[in-house]
Amino acid sequence: MDTRAAELASKLAEEHALALFEYGYLAARLGDAELRDELASLARAVREPIYGHGVFIRGLIEFSSFCTNDCLYCGLRASNAACERYRLEPEQILACTEQGYSLGFRTFVLQSGEDPQYSDERLCAIVSAIKGAHPDCAVTLSVGERTRESYRLLREAGVDRYLLRHETADPAHYARLHPASMSWDRRMRCLYDLRDLGYAVGCGFMVGSPYQTPAALARDLAFIQEFRPEMCGIGPFVPHHATPFADRPSGTLEQTLGLLSIIRLIHPFVLLPATTALATIDPCGRELGMEAGANVAMPNLSPAGVRTRYALYDGKACTGDEAAECRRDLDRSLESFGYRVVIDRGDPRGVTRGQA
Ligand code: 5AD
Repeated sequence: MDTRAAELASKLAEEHALALFEYGYLAARLGDAELRDELASLARAVREPIYGHGVFIRGLIEFSSFCTNDCLYCGLRASNAACERYRLEPEQILACTEQGYSLGFRTFVLQSGEDPQYSDERLCAIVSAIKGAHPDCAVTLSVGERTRESYRLLREAGVDRYLLRHETADPAHYARLHPASMSWDRRMRCLYDLRDLGYAVGCGFMVGSPYQTPAALARDLAFIQEFRPEMCGIGPFVPHHATPFADRPSGTLEQTLGLLSIIRLIHPFVLLPATTALATIDPCGRELGMEAGANVAMPNLSPAGVRTRYALYDGKACTGDEAAECRRDLDRSLESFGYRVVIDRGDPRGVTRGQA
């Protein structure tokens, strides 16, 4: 490991902030195993007094695969005519939460493509029903860009948290990953609206997406430092055969782990999942993610029959430790690395800027 990289790693661990060019320097060196080990051990050290070895779990319910967007990387893009679409009825969604509750889940993440069929009214009714049945649970929505008024109504209906990955903090890079109809400014505005309305907000990005450079990653890291999201979801880009990026290589395990550690060091309190995409590219991805500084796992609670149809990318893991009904398997794999699942809503600890 070069001395400059070592110096930046310890500066980040002490000050939780770096300059843009310093993030770029680190991002360009994540191929160095010694640097990654150093970042991971610093990340575990800052996480320890806050979260210990506890892992929060969230049950992920993918309730609609319809999407009006046409993101170039995503298998659910509107122009993928071969994608088999499905929608879950409100009763099916509620049945998933019932099953999840008995498995110990106290947070439900409702995720879908941008599907206009789920009006504010329909979504609010679903959320109220879940909160009515389980007032001790948190509900997280991840249904893309909506108007501020829509976010306000959903918050009023009881939604606690919202996940909306920014995908890239570099507007020029954003334009290469999305059709012209999508706007980086609008995406950012949504994140600030959500923050303003009192949600715990999650942003995030793909690692190794086409055209991503260390400079673009540096912007992602600087954005996380500035925005201080309550949650941050990152995972490797994985190609989907029916998209324009079918022939692009996946993001790597190593780069993803290095970035997880850096994000933990920037924001010690952040809720950081070891994502399904990470578990998809490596059988130990989940556990290695925890060792790099992650503290959240989001197993799939969708009905088994629809899981393979929510195909964001090829080979998406949805069995074994990724399946909510296999909680015991997940517990066992995490325990083998010294972690234990916490039965709790798993709210962010500490005062983040959003709550201050
Ligand atoms: N590889 C990895 N992640 C992907 N996503 C969409 N397509 C892919 C892909 N091919 C991620 C995006 C999106 C989230 C729901 O899934 O970051 O925000």
